[in-house]
Amino acid sequence: MTQTLLGGLSPTRFLRDYWHKRPLLIRNAVPGFSGLLTPDAMQQLATREDVESRLVQGAGRHWQFDHGPFRKSDFKRLPKREWTLLVQSLNHVLPEADALLARFNFIPHARLDDLMVSYAVPGGSVGPHFDSYDVFLLQGQGHRRWQISTQTDLTILDDVPLRILRHFEPEEEWLLGPGDMLYLPPHVAHYGVAEDACMTYSIGFRAPTTHELAQGFLMHLQDSVTLEGRYADPDLRLQAHPGEIGRAMLRQIEAMIARIHWSKRDIAEFTGCYLSEPKPNVFFDPPEAPVSFAAFNKRTGKTGVTLNPKSRLLFIGSRFFINGEAFDSTADETAALQQLADHHQLAAVPATLRERFYEWYEAGWLEIAPS
Ligand code: SIN
Ligand code: CO
Repeated sequence: MTQTLLGGLSPTRFLRDYWHKRPLLIRNAVPGFSGLLTPDAMQQLATREDVESRLVQGAGRHWQFDHGPFRKSDFKRLPKREWTLLVQSLNHVLPEADALLARFNFIPHARLDDLMVSYAVPGGSVGPHFDSYDVFLLQGQGHRRWQISTQTDLTILDDVPLRILRHFEPEEEWLLGPGDMLYLPPHVAHYGVAEDACMTYSIGFRAPTTHELAQGFLMHLQDSVTLEGRYADPDLRLQAHPGEIGRAMLRQIEAMIARIHWSKRDIAEFTGCYLSEPKPNVFFDPPEAPVSFAAFNKRTGKTGVTLNPKSRLLFIGSRFFINGEAFDSTADETAALQQLADHHQLAAVPATLRERFYEWYEAGWLEIAPS
């Protein structure tokens, strides 16, 4: 399966030769693929408050950018050409989209962001641009012409509401049809224009900046670091300026701050919590009429459980992280939890995990697998 997806390459070779390094065009990556939803169903999603959507209109140097949610009537007013509707995190609302993402299991879940879908009318595009993330662009219905460039001039246009490259110098060009896929590493400039009404599915990855990680880690440390002691100055000397912060005071504060230390364990704990934290716009929907613990036990005993597609479950050995929270697993739970983290489903739930899973079920993090 992965072999087709990667055009005959094994995941190992793909990772070695292409991932995060160079573009790859894969004809017929998903044979028979014609998309996961209709343009109408997508427009319906773009009217929802809980779904992130955007509308891009224009071409050349003239662009308009609007955020959803939209009204259905907004779409009726649009011209016949040159607009694109984008819907983020389709995998959160469409099980088929979550299943499509699962095909990209050869990349760690911690690197995965989401599945975005775009619908464009003829001439529609989001302009020539570059992204800071790896992306697989899988063509659904219709055709899109992609041009790419490894140019180093990445300056963007001023005064437009989108990040559009000032100069785009295409080096390669392909017309993608249903099932074709283009992999792009970060910073490869690209420009995809709809030939006919078409839909493109973007499997996007996340790569936090050093600054974001450092900020997150400092916040994490704030809750985990405890240092003893208090400022003390038994040797205080009379200062000429009582308003001045003296050198001795600065030296002592520097020494106090220098006592902040962290271990590999702190880094692991932060990384697990940080990367399993859902995006701020993600809200879980607890079941409207939750079954009792006894019924949950009985039903999951038969069919098992599935992770809600919005949940992020990651692990480091036997330490697990779900949606920003950490816990240790016991020896007889670890394999089952790892299975759930890897495949988002688990057929046999160990007895010791049932209470924990019931709490996750009540929070909307986990579901009873359909029978
Ligand atoms: C699109 O699907 O229209 C845009 C995807 C991209 O260029 O990253
Ligand atoms: Co892009």
